[in-house]
Amino acid sequence: MTHLHITAWVLGLILFFVSLSFYKQEKKAGKILHMILRLDYLLILYSGGSLSTQYFTESYMLGEAIVKILAGLWVIASLEMILVKVSKGKPTKSFWIQFAVAFAITLVLGFGRLTYGLHFLN
Ligand code: HEM
Repeated sequence: MTHLHITAWVLGLILFFVSLSFYKQEKKAGKILHMILRLDYLLILYSGGSLSTQYFTESYMLGEAIVKILAGLWVIASLEMILVKVSKGKPTKSFWIQFAVAFAITLVLGFGRLTYGLHFLN
């Protein structure tokens, strides 16, 4: 599940940046990749949700796990907002800042603190 989670969010980042660059060039492919990215959000949510259960059932590092889950959701929300705003030609700066903050929190907590998945790769 850890493999799936990492694969899903790395793929999400790639789809995000490619879709962003197509939107900026006003190409149709931007919209298509954006739709695929939305499907990938489901994979991120499924794998992240599944990884979350072990923290809830054992109440292990629950505080950090909850912050990590909220930050992960915040990353998805900021990616989605950036693409929607770019597609409408609106400013995106505030969402980029949110993305940077939320992404930093997910990386620090995900790789640095929450160790279930990486210790027992499954
Ligand atoms: C794009 C958004 C996200 C990013 C960039 C992200 C990033 C990460 C990273 C780097 C890790 C550590 C590697 C691992 O053990 O798998 C991780 C683990 C985890 N993520 Fe996410 N995540 C995201 C979304 C989510 C969401 C939406 C949830 C919950 C619904 C979630 C729940 C978890 C949990 C519970 C772990 C701990 C796994 C473990 O025990 O190691 N993540 N995530």
